[in-house]
Amino acid sequence: MNWLKLATASILGVGLIAGLWLIWPVLFPTPVADTQPAMTPERIERGAYLARAGNCIGCHTAKSGPPYAGGRRVPTPFGSLYTTNLTPDDATGLGQWSAADFYRAMHLGRSKNGGFLLPAFPFTSYTRITREDSDALYVFLQSLAPVERVRPPSDMRFPFDTQLARLGWQRLFFKPSTFEPDPKASAAWNRGAYLVEGLGHCSACHTIRGPLGEESQAHAYAGGPIAGMEWDALPLNLNRRMNDVDRREMHALLKAGTSRDNAVSGPMAEVVFNSTQYLDDSDLDAMITYIASLPVTDSPAPRVTTRVDGVRRSELIKQGSVVYANHCADCHGRDGEGQPFTYPALANNPLVLAPSANNAIRIVLDGGFAPSTAAHPRPHGMPPFSHQLSDEEIAAVISYIRGAWGHDASAVAAADIARY
Ligand code: HEC
Ligand code: HEC
Ligand code: HEC
Repeated sequence: MNWLKLATASILGVGLIAGLWLIWPVLFPTPVADTQPAMTPERIERGAYLARAGNCIGCHTAKSGPPYAGGRRVPTPFGSLYTTNLTPDDATGLGQWSAADFYRAMHLGRSKNGGFLLPAFPFTSYTRITREDSDALYVFLQSLAPVERVRPPSDMRFPFDTQLARLGWQRLFFKPSTFEPDPKASAAWNRGAYLVEGLGHCSACHTIRGPLGEESQAHAYAGGPIAGMEWDALPLNLNRRMNDVDRREMHALLKAGTSRDNAVSGPMAEVVFNSTQYLDDSDLDAMITYIASLPVTDSPAPRVTTRVDGVRRSELIKQGSVVYANHCADCHGRDGEGQPFTYPALANNPLVLAPSANNAIRIVLDGGFAPSTAAHPRPHGMPPFSHQLSDEEIAAVISYIRGAWGHDASAVAAADIARY
């Protein structure tokens, strides 16, 4: 029975190779230099700036909790987990961490005890930062007042709660790397790429994720539903023909939250509030230079909605024009032209024209505020309409803004509003 022995041997062999491949990073950990940076005021200030660029505070602060002390719930399609305490508390924070431990977390996705971290922590982007920038971040966090705050236990579903699954995920979908500047590109482009792909972790929302939560490279920066959130990100890779006006608009959105014709909302309002409003103009311009070069990729499938036929669509648009005139035109203008720096234009608005009406439905139902920023401290609000208008009227007015003024986006059925 030689074939039986052969089969057993080959199964064992393949199993051994797969096992070795899996535990390779445990057997042969990537070496990290064990140097400690000096805690100079310049380095602390630099680290504070980089912490803004990475929006560490956004995730590592619980609702009305002390900044950087963790405890915010991060929902994922595989259960939720809570963020860790980044203050230098010895027992519950980073008090006992060395700069090398910290770099291992940012660059390799490993905790101090060697545990494999989940990609809800965007180390898949942060991996690209330089050791110098990691050290500055470390020194800044160590300069904070220690706060004792225990992290609540996570409720990730099996097997995502196991180290083996986290290791498997990292082996399949993560390769530690450091940003390599492209010598053929401009200094501004390289700086922008470093910020967008690294600390800015813009792809964490602007690139749709695959079945195991990995960013889908086929749809890089093409937007789509954000895992664990009710919002869709807009595509960032449609800006290749940006002229000076478009650049100024995007700069204003990232700096002030409100531009001449547009405003950010929902999760993007938080990104601007915590992060991009604090970035130097030159860094923002560099990011825009990089964004303007992003290649176009396949659009992901939009959220599933009821199909509306042509006849019904015309009825909805007609009914919606009345709702619009009565409830929206005062602010957004009769022809959707808006009011500069006050009310966004709805004509030619990327959020209104997105493949899915999801964000528009959300904002009409719940209302919204652009972020209050140093450049635009008192933005106007958008009132919620969930109590004022029926599902039918909301479907009609959204069908109207998606179909009027030369727009050609799909209509929305009342049944889809009811689902929210
Ligand atoms: C999108 C949310 C998010 C952002 C933004 C974020 N983190 Fe985290 N971070 C997490 C989550 C969630 C964990 C826990 C991961 C786990 O337990 O597997 C974590 C874990 C960590 C850890 C490991 C701590 C430990 O005890 O193992 C460090 C260090 C860390 N983050 C630092 C940072 C820094 C520095 C920044 C800003 C540059 C940052 N994080 C931004 C969500 C985030
Ligand atoms: C937490 C998720 C999240 C992250 C992280 C994020 N975005 Fe967004 N972004 C969104 C959502 C959702 C929208 C759509 C809502 C809106 O337009 O305000 C959006 C919209 C935008 C828009 C407006 C697009 C338009 O055409 O109106 C720009 C520009 C933008 N994001 C840039 C960035 C950049 C640059 C980064 C990285 C620094 C980033 N975003 C990181 C969620 C995110
Ligand atoms: C009182 C003034 C006001 C009224 C009335 C109003 N809006 Fe708004 N709307 C705003 C403001 C301000 C924003 C920006 C809010 C933000 O950035 O979150 C906004 C944002 C929006 C957006 C998102 C645009 C973007 O680019 O972020 C849509 C879509 C929208 N409104 C549709 C409507 C519709 C439809 C109606 C009528 C049912 C309406 N609005 C009534 C003030 C108003």
